[in-house]
Amino acid sequence: MRASGCCILLCAFLIAMPVAAEEEADQIIEHRVAGFRDIGTSFRNMTTELKSSRPSIAAVQSNARVISGYTAHIPGWFVPGSEPRAKPAKGWFASLRDWLFSPNTLAATDDVESHAKPEIWTQRAQFDTAYRNFKTEAETMVRTSQGTDIAAMKMQLRKLEHTCKACHDTFREDID
Ligand code: HEC
Repeated sequence: MRASGCCILLCAFLIAMPVAAEEEADQIIEHRVAGFRDIGTSFRNMTTELKSSRPSIAAVQSNARVISGYTAHIPGWFVPGSEPRAKPAKGWFASLRDWLFSPNTLAATDDVESHAKPEIWTQRAQFDTAYRNFKTEAETMVRTSQGTDIAAMKMQLRKLEHTCKACHDTFREDID
């Protein structure tokens, strides 16, 4: 009796462990997508502002700071294990396991959608370079927005945009 009780506990532990890891990865992916959406919104706000006839420099500054603030988080968004899952993501065993152990069966079977390419994890040096270029231009954008030179801000925004595009071209699937 005691031996079989132990076995049941041990089995439950072994089965539950990967579920925890998966949930953690899902959370990282959710943060990542939400973060990039914020970056996208701030970028759009800056574009709209700098296109207007009387741009609000305060708005450019605050949006530039949002983007620059996110640069510190980006490395943590792409840790090992946060790769997008292959679809269909789960075999019968994983599905059954989630169904048995998840308090919310629907959420567990519905994977978070990611458009990150696997190359991020296989060509890390190149990805890091794309990240560093972006960080540099995002920081320069903050500095440029401290001044009053709208033309310089527009130019810097274009430079920043190039770094977004450079990374997306190689490391993000097309989103339409
Ligand atoms: C170092 C690489 C990198 C840089 C630089 C980068 N991105 Fe991204 N971006 C990604 C990846 C990878 C994804 C996909 C994330 C996912 O779906 O898991 C993404 C996703 C997005 C999304 C879509 C989020 C969604 O709704 O799914 C937006 C919007 C976005 N990025 C905007 C920007 C903007 C604007 C910039 C520049 C100011 C930028 N990104 C810079 C890699 C980058």
